[in-house]
Amino acid sequence: MSVPEHRPVMPEAVIEHLRPRPGETYVDGTVGGGAHSELILDHSGPDSRLIGLDRDPAQLAFAAERLARFGERVALVRARYEDVLHALSSVDIDSGIDGMLIDCGPSLDQLAGRTTGRGRGFSWRADGEALLMTYDPDQPRTARSVLAEADERELLEIFGRTLRGGEVRAAVRAIISEREQAPIETTDRLTELLRRALAFKGAAVEKRIAAGYLALRIEVNDELGGLERGIDAAVTALRPGGRLVIITFHGLEHRLARTRLRELEGGPTGPARLIGAPEREAKLQVMTPKPLFPIEEEISSNPAARSARLHAAIRV
Ligand SMILES: C[S@@+](CC[C@H](N)C(=O)[O-])C[C@H]1O[C@@H](n2cnc3c(N)ncnc32)[C@H](O)[C@@H]1O
Repeated sequence: MSVPEHRPVMPEAVIEHLRPRPGETYVDGTVGGGAHSELILDHSGPDSRLIGLDRDPAQLAFAAERLARFGERVALVRARYEDVLHALSSVDIDSGIDGMLIDCGPSLDQLAGRTTGRGRGFSWRADGEALLMTYDPDQPRTARSVLAEADERELLEIFGRTLRGGEVRAAVRAIISEREQAPIETTDRLTELLRRALAFKGAAVEKRIAAGYLALRIEVNDELGGLERGIDAAVTALRPGGRLVIITFHGLEHRLARTRLRELEGGPTGPARLIGAPEREAKLQVMTPKPLFPIEEEISSNPAARSARLHAAIRV
């Protein structure tokens, strides 16, 4: 099997905030090619354990190869990180864990189709790939089924998450008129129709096409719902003093992670804060009041890290 090209994002900050220790148990909720997991295991000493979860069996196969040298210290489970409690009981861990990492979004290997030998339509630049956009290859709901079945109101909601006012209506109109001719099943058709619909934005059109793709990917994989449920599940799985580290990659994820962690810290957030609403029970202590971002040196050697933000909290 070829070596994954995905590089671990913000490796020093992950180790600093997860603080792996000998004898402890960690969950990598998005093990991918196993690069962060390898770091965690190398930093935590000989008798630590790591349970790596992923929705994509091809990624788990990459991780299995990379982490083989750790032997029985590693268990890999095909599962969503939202289902971490179930995944832990499947490997006979019923006591709490000491740390959990969630590194959102697709890996570079998935974007380039390296894991399966063929891309799943994650990237607007891909030529003629099937519009699947699923991490789990067996998931029936795909980008092409959403494009075929969602009604106008649903499409407005989906694309309204990442596109702006006039762009949303233009994109949705173009999808509805195009699918009346023939189903939209490949990346080149979607990219072309978004390019035409969003052309009035001039030079920035490629960023807007990418934003349209992001909207579909978020919808197909329920990425925002999953992140919120995943944070809550991690809080239940962690023992007191256990640490949660989350790496997010776009504004919707940054906001969701920051708000949910603050809510779990017990203080009121949003409008409730302004009217002085009462405090709730604290489940976490947030270590990053402002999320951290990668240093310039990392961005220049790994441009995929540019938009990353790291959030960290301790279970109280
Ligand atoms: C950015 S990559 C992780 C890369 C990994 N940290 C590394 O260093 O190699 C994210 C991975 O999460 C997986 N994934 C996405 N959503 C998931 C979810 N809800 N539960 C579990 N895995 C998920 C993807 O299949 C992908 O392999």
